[in-house]
Amino acid sequence: AIESGVAQKTITDWETYAIELDKRLGLDNQLMRVLGAKARRNPKRLVFAEADNIKILKSAQIAYDERIAYPILLGDEKTIRQMALDNSIDIDDMPIIDPRNDEYEEKRKQFGELFFKKRQRKGVNQYEATKMMKDRTYFGCMMVENGDADAVISGLTRNYADAIRPALQVIGMEEGVKKIAGMYMLLTKRGPLFLADTTVNLNPTAEELADITLLAAKEVRSFNLVPRIAMLSYSNFGSSDTPEAKLVARAKDIVKEKDPTIIIDGEMQPNIAFNQEILRDNYPFSELVDQEVNTLIFPNLAAGNIAYNLMKEIGGADAVGPILLGLKKPVHVLQLGSSVRSITNMALIAVIDAQLKCQNAGQEAAK
Ligand code: ACO
Repeated sequence: AIESGVAQKTITDWETYAIELDKRLGLDNQLMRVLGAKARRNPKRLVFAEADNIKILKSAQIAYDERIAYPILLGDEKTIRQMALDNSIDIDDMPIIDPRNDEYEEKRKQFGELFFKKRQRKGVNQYEATKMMKDRTYFGCMMVENGDADAVISGLTRNYADAIRPALQVIGMEEGVKKIAGMYMLLTKRGPLFLADTTVNLNPTAEELADITLLAAKEVRSFNLVPRIAMLSYSNFGSSDTPEAKLVARAKDIVKEKDPTIIIDGEMQPNIAFNQEILRDNYPFSELVDQEVNTLIFPNLAAGNIAYNLMKEIGGADAVGPILLGLKKPVHVLQLGSSVRSITNMALIAVIDAQLKCQNAGQEAAK
């Protein structure tokens, strides 16, 4: 029923939105259009965990109308239906699930058992595990883990850290990943710019920073772009002999050891990363000479988080994110109070993530 739900309308809104955005930013950025088209080629079942919020409901409608996703709405059915009616939102084809409802007792039990197996030695007892499935974030993550949905977005109405924990506990990390991280894509006049870690790890070690960089590079490649990475600090190529600057330089070396083909340099200041003249004149040895940097890696969470917010508020860039990197399955946690446009963008990112992860899982299964 979920699969057949999307009406075959001719929809051009996504393109209109992308073109308007391009005009506003004064750029010819095709990325969002390309991503929209990519999502539409293979829409996925996307759980909106806070569907009794009007912004979420509007985003679900846009995602549905634009054929980028098959929304599944979590929340109190009566509230959702009333809200849809009051706002002329057509949700007839969208399944509504209220995890607290008696109707879903069996499902809660099934999910609770699965969750208990994962967390029994982490202080969760069986009764608690089942009870926790009344929480929509846990239930939504469990739907993805259990294959009842392809992706979930949540977190609009709760603290970011509290919304990440269910994803870590239920879904966990991709093989080989030690820490998840957060990335923002900023649509700027000079094209898309990727920033990490902007949302998760407070003070990464050099090894962790290298892992964050590799996760970000992988994500940038998934958008069909070649990552050109500047590892940022307040120092340029050893100009400051401090532990913070050295940590970033060491992280760059580790990345290079792990992936010798990657285009990366640092530690460096952002103004140097974007000024070819200074770079060429003063640091002609740098790998980033004649390269257009599109990925910025920050030494810690404070720097990354402050930078993206400044670029968004003062620099006028449109921010898409936070995109969670390194989770085994597509769970994306919204920033508290995100706009309808941000939520819709994240729905798009979640669908593309799901396409990629399904494809990878298929390849693994075929081995
Ligand atoms: N990647 C993967 N797993 C992690 C990570 C990570 N980066 N950090 C912690 N964990 C795991 C731990 O291993 C632990 O697993 P376990 O329970 O299976 O043993 C579990 O998560 C909880 O560990 P804690 O040490 O208790 O971690 P914490 O409670 O600090 O939560 C969190 C982790 C939420 C990611 C934390 O790092 C955090 O609060 N980060 C900052 C979030 C934030 O404030 N961001 C800025 C604003 S958000 C925005 O701008 C959109």
